[in-house]
Amino acid sequence: MSDFEILVVDDEAVALKNLCHILKKEGYKVSAAKSGKQALAYLDKQEFALVLTDLKMPQVDGMQLLKRVKSVCPQTEVIMITGFSTVDSAVAALKAGAYHYITKPFKLDEVRKVVHEATQKYQLIREVEQLRKQVGTSNEQLRIVTHNRAMKDLLEMASQIAATDTSVVISGESGTGKELLAKYIHNESPRHAAIMLSINCGAFGEELLTNELFGHSKGAFTGADKDKKGLVEMANGGTLFLDEITEMSLSMQVKFLRILQEQEVIPVGGTTPVKVNVRFVAATNRDLEKEVKSGNFRQDLFYRINVVSLKIPPLSERKDDIPLLIQSFLDKYNASMHKEVAEVSQEVLDTLQHYDFPGNVRELENIIERGVALANSNILRLAQIPDDLRSLDIQTFRKSAGKYASMEEVEKSYIEWILKETAYNKTAAAKALNIDRVSLWRKIKKLGLE
Ligand SMILES: Nc1ncnc2c1ncn2[C@@H]1O[C@H](COP(=O)(O)OP(=O)(O)OP(=O)(O)O)[C@@H](O)[C@H]1O
Ligand SMILES: [Mg+2]
Repeated sequence: MSDFEILVVDDEAVALKNLCHILKKEGYKVSAAKSGKQALAYLDKQEFALVLTDLKMPQVDGMQLLKRVKSVCPQTEVIMITGFSTVDSAVAALKAGAYHYITKPFKLDEVRKVVHEATQKYQLIREVEQLRKQVGTSNEQLRIVTHNRAMKDLLEMASQIAATDTSVVISGESGTGKELLAKYIHNESPRHAAIMLSINCGAFGEELLTNELFGHSKGAFTGADKDKKGLVEMANGGTLFLDEITEMSLSMQVKFLRILQEQEVIPVGGTTPVKVNVRFVAATNRDLEKEVKSGNFRQDLFYRINVVSLKIPPLSERKDDIPLLIQSFLDKYNASMHKEVAEVSQEVLDTLQHYDFPGNVRELENIIERGVALANSNILRLAQIPDDLRSLDIQTFRKSAGKYASMEEVEKSYIEWILKETAYNKTAAAKALNIDRVSLWRKIKKLGLE
């Protein structure tokens, strides 16, 4: 499941083997070092999410390793394994920046839990880094492809409110284009020269989120050796996109309410509020009103943020957009994969038109991306779309060469299909058609299906 790399270090062969085994079973990639020295060699070569090390080892011990890790790659987490008698050194390890310590003999559940938490933290820090890198980069070009009436009305409304500073909540199923619409609003707004920062409220733990959003002042905690601006302050003049807003904890919601009301943030450990000018756009794939009723979302914040509510319809309710979206994704992936897939075959189009797209536009995009990658001619064919879509039961009626199919033609293709479905077992086919075997045999003869 995860592609985190973990380095396990222990001079005791049995313990080393056990730990590696447990972690591999959890789905981590694991490297084993049987001494501190060997571990140093690993650390020179690559970055690990986590180092799990024994404290007491000859030559290079756990503390020395910890110091090396923190100096070359501070985001790598370290978990110290200690014996019962060495609680003092465990505390020293924590002070030097270890994430946690585990005492020997270790309990499996504890190991799993602590390792999971440490790798989560590592991932979050990486994500925050990514976020910070985005700051200042220009807005990529974006196009909302549609000719559906309801979508056009929605876009019209979005452009109108873009000019104002009102908070907006965008709702819609997963993959309907909520983030895309948020970018659209930002780009259409007078704030477009500043940045839009996206924060996934569900992906961060409370402490980290607070620290990253609001920043901190020097000395707020060990390691805070200078003032650090939070992301809210960085989005000053621009837009803050709060994705999956219902995932925000109740205490975090209080903090946000404050920003919305006062337009100011107080950095962690600071006392003076910093004025900010930020436009909030939130997104959710849930029913926010229901979340308020059930107590998961604060009512006061709801009223503050839900000034304008935009609901994106699922793709299954705007199937008229499917051909246009297909073309647009063909263009996109032809360009990036240097291919020339001009169109999809009629069967593919029929299949896609009859599918209900639980994953909405994102799912359609993935299907086309995959199809373009697999296509070996300039037409994307049924063989290049996922199996489970291909086997959908589809019956389509359409004019062929300007004329409707006759009853007999429809009957013929239906019987043909049933025969294929039943692997030409005539008894089963007759049963499916609810006619007797003799009648089926006559039809086969008459329609020339032999
Ligand atoms: N109308 C559209 N035209 C072109 N591309 C679209 C459209 N709608 C969605 N997409 C594309 O589909 C993908 C999913 O869109 P987006 O990430 O905005 O959805 P979302 O609603 O935020 O999904 P989630 O709830 O899963 O976060 C993106 O690659 C986006 O560019
Ligand atoms: Mg999204």
